[in-house]
Amino acid sequence: MRIPSAILTLIAGMALVLLGQWVANDVNWLPVSASTNAPVYDELFRVLLAIGTMLLVGMTGVVVYSLIRFRRRDGDQKDGPPVEGNLSLELFWTAIPAVVVLFLGIYSYDIYDRMGGMTDLNAHGMDHHVAELASVRQSQPGDEERIWGGIAPASGNEAVLPVEVTALQFAFVFHYPEQNITSGELHVPTGQAVELRLKANDVIHAFWVPEFRIKQDVIPGQPTVLTFTANRIGDYPIVCAELCGPYHGGMRSHVVVDEPESFATWVETNTPATLS
Ligand code: CUA
Repeated sequence: MRIPSAILTLIAGMALVLLGQWVANDVNWLPVSASTNAPVYDELFRVLLAIGTMLLVGMTGVVVYSLIRFRRRDGDQKDGPPVEGNLSLELFWTAIPAVVVLFLGIYSYDIYDRMGGMTDLNAHGMDHHVAELASVRQSQPGDEERIWGGIAPASGNEAVLPVEVTALQFAFVFHYPEQNITSGELHVPTGQAVELRLKANDVIHAFWVPEFRIKQDVIPGQPTVLTFTANRIGDYPIVCAELCGPYHGGMRSHVVVDEPESFATWVETNTPATLS
């Protein structure tokens, strides 16, 4: 008895969907999640992984099947059949990717919005940040300053911890303006929004903490903010993710996430003594 090809295709499709589901839910290629952004990002990653697995296995499967099923048999010297176009197949392979790409585009936008990416960067209340960034850059009077990109704190969030980040060949330097601490490593408490104010001194760098699922380009002359809330104690790598020169590969630091009490102790021991 021959099983109709429509049934076989249906079974193969269902197997692919189950495989994609399994890979997305049970295979974890990501590092530990240490910020409140991470679960949002991971949700998108799982969807991408499921779709990617279905496409990879499905297309590779068809190629391997065709190699075996339609191989040249011994003594076969004929040409293959002259196939010229197949409208329904062409419609199918145009419509499916169009729907998938459109869905992923809209879904990615939604994820970025949920991470705070669509908050107005130059909203009222950010003015003082702009002014501080301007003073750091020693800009000319009248030079119109604005924040160019990144993720701003939710408006009305007064509890943010500001940290100025200077990226230069080949290091990140962290400065806590309210405590007057300068440090080569970033220290943050759990459960508090941290607002990084990034600037680059020379060339384009990128600030990346895989465990926080955040990465932000830092471009000279373009003040940028990046807000996150750490929620897991630990010591995580900070990686420059933009080729910035011969020692780009060595441009690394790390972020120490502590309980608020331990963080307060770190602040206390590192705050410079005032001469008053
Ligand atoms: Cu800085 Cu790569």
